[in-house]
Amino acid sequence: MMGDGRAEGVAIVTGAAGGMGSACARKLAAEGWDEFLLCDIHAGRLESLADDLRAGGAQVDVLAGDVADPGWADALLAALGSRKISALIHTAGLAPMMADAPRILVVNLDATVALVDAVRDRMAAGSAAVLYASNSTYFPMPPEAAEAFTSPLPPGGTAQLAHLAPVPELAYPLSKLGVRALVKREAKSFGDRGSRLISVSPGAIDTPMTKDEIPNSEPAQKMIRDSASGRIGRPEEVAAVSVFLCSPEASFAVATDWLVDGGHTAAMGF
Ligand SMILES: NC(=O)c1ccc[n+]([C@@H]2O[C@H](COP(=O)([O-])OP(=O)(O)OC[C@H]3O[C@@H](n4cnc5c(N)ncnc54)[C@H](O)[C@@H]3O)[C@@H](O)[C@H]2O)c1
Repeated sequence: MMGDGRAEGVAIVTGAAGGMGSACARKLAAEGWDEFLLCDIHAGRLESLADDLRAGGAQVDVLAGDVADPGWADALLAALGSRKISALIHTAGLAPMMADAPRILVVNLDATVALVDAVRDRMAAGSAAVLYASNSTYFPMPPEAAEAFTSPLPPGGTAQLAHLAPVPELAYPLSKLGVRALVKREAKSFGDRGSRLISVSPGAIDTPMTKDEIPNSEPAQKMIRDSASGRIGRPEEVAAVSVFLCSPEASFAVATDWLVDGGHTAAMGF
C-alpha cells in the first residue's frame, strides 16, 4: 500500500483517448496516481493525453491497439511487465451507431471477458477494477436474450449468440448487460485476491460517442428533459465516481453496478 492507503502499482485506463476514459485518467492523476498504462485504438489522441500526464510528473506508458484483437490481452500484460495493477478503469467500447452488431458484441463483451481473465492475477491487494456498462441495461430486453447474455459466454464467445442480438440497438444493451453479469460472477475471484470488481453504468453523457446520437434522438432528448437532473452528464461527473470506486474509501463497494445517470433511467420508469 502507498502512504495514503492506495494500492501499489499501475493505473490502467482503456478507451483513454475517449470522453470518459480521458476524464478518468486525468482525475486519477489529480488524485495522486502517478504510474499509468493508457490504452486505446487511437494512437495520436492517446499520446497527447500521455504527454499531458507526463508534464504533471506521472510515469506513463501507452498501448495503442484494438481490445478485440486476440493478442491484445497478452500485449497488455507485456506492457505491464512485472508490475501489479492498482486500478483498472475499462471504458473502451462502441455505441450502437458506431459498428455492426457482431463488432459491438466482440468489443464490448468478449474483449471485456478476456481483459478480466488477463488481469485477475495481476491486481494488487487493495486495488479495484471498474468496467463500464450502461444505463440501457436497466431497460427491458427480450428475456431469452437477456438470460443468454447474463450467463457465462459459450466457448465461441458472442458469435454463438449473434442470432439473439441481430441489430446494434439490441447488441449494445445486451453486451453491457453481459458486462454487469461478468462483474457479479467474477467479483469473488477478485475478492479472493484482495481486489474489487465493480461496474459503472453512465446515463447520457456528452462525449464523442454521443455527439451525433443524442441531439438527433427525440426519445433520448425526452429522457434527459424528464430526468431529475434535466440535462446530459459531463464525462468528469462519471470519472469522479469511477475514481472514487478505485479509492480505499470505496472498500465495501464491490460486485455491483453503480448507476451514474442524472436520473435518466428513473425518468424512463425503470
Ligand atoms: N457517452 C454515453 O452517453 C455513454 C452512456 C452509457 C455508457 N457509455 C459507455 O461508456 C464507455 C465510454 O464511452 P465514451 O462516451 O467515453 O465514448 P468515447 O467514444 O468518447 O470513448 C471510447 C473510447 O474507446 C475507444 N475504443 C473503441 N473501440 C475500441 C477498441 N476496439 N479497442 C480499443 N479502444 C477502443 C475509442 O477509440 C474511444 O477513444 C463506453 O464503454 C460506452 O459504451 C457511454
